[in-house]
Amino acid sequence: MNADSKVIVVTGVCGGIGSAVAELLNESGYIVAGFDIDRNDSEVYEHHIVDVTNAEQVKKSLDLVFQKYGKINSLVNCAGILSTNNFYSENYSDWKKILNVNLDSVFICSKEIVDYLIKNEISNIINIASVSAFKQSVFSSVAYCASKAAIVGMSRTMAAQLAKDGVRVNNVAPGFVDTEMIELLSPEVIEKCKNSVPLGRVASPVEVAAAVRYLLSDDASYITGETININGGTFMS
Ligand SMILES: NC(=O)c1ccc[n+]([C@@H]2O[C@H](COP(=O)([O-])OP(=O)(O)OC[C@H]3O[C@@H](n4cnc5c(N)ncnc54)[C@H](O)[C@@H]3O)[C@@H](O)[C@H]2O)c1
Repeated sequence: MNADSKVIVVTGVCGGIGSAVAELLNESGYIVAGFDIDRNDSEVYEHHIVDVTNAEQVKKSLDLVFQKYGKINSLVNCAGILSTNNFYSENYSDWKKILNVNLDSVFICSKEIVDYLIKNEISNIINIASVSAFKQSVFSSVAYCASKAAIVGMSRTMAAQLAKDGVRVNNVAPGFVDTEMIELLSPEVIEKCKNSVPLGRVASPVEVAAAVRYLLSDDASYITGETININGGTFMS
């Protein structure tokens, strides 16, 4: 770490994609403050136990990060939960839970962090959406698909409204990624999913993390309001 290192808050940092993002950013010289309800001892990020659906907890940890480093440069919204309910079995309380964790958290974390971000010349908000935002899903619930589609919609308007303050807002939309999240699925469903992907395999979390690192970098300095799809060519099939 040096004085120029950028400070990035990554939510869902104990998960498969979040921890890959934290590792890759750490390797690239960023300081990572990881927020998660879970704990995972790691040397590559500073851990904060935070429920990202709770604005007070989010604010408290962001204040601590800012006090420690004197800046917060960007946010990666990665916390999320999957539900595989069929529409007929899903009830309103399942729907609310999924929307709360996957969508409200993106609003809450972005709202709480924005006053820190606009102190910088350039900063980023990157959301992990999903292929399910764009395509009917073989296994995800309608609530999950709605939460991810809403992220894509909200981030375009956020990108437009925050551009004047130098905040770029983009999404990364993965297909199937090899993390605990897809362990909810049966081996048969996973096999079916793999077979439906032109590249014939699931993604590794680091392939998603690489897109996050790119969007945070100056190489992506003219990109905002966009979504990078990491899905092995799924849209061709
Ligand atoms: N794995 C996939 O195939 C896949 C595909 C597309 C999109 N995604 C999205 O990528 C993101 C990361 O998923 P993953 O595959 O790493 O899953 P994961 O289950 O490995 O990780 C999710 C993390 O989010 C954390 N989390 C859940 N609720 C939280 C809360 N209220 N507050 C704080 N942390 C909370 C969990 O503790 C966990 O560490 C999610 O938004 C997911 O929807 C995953």
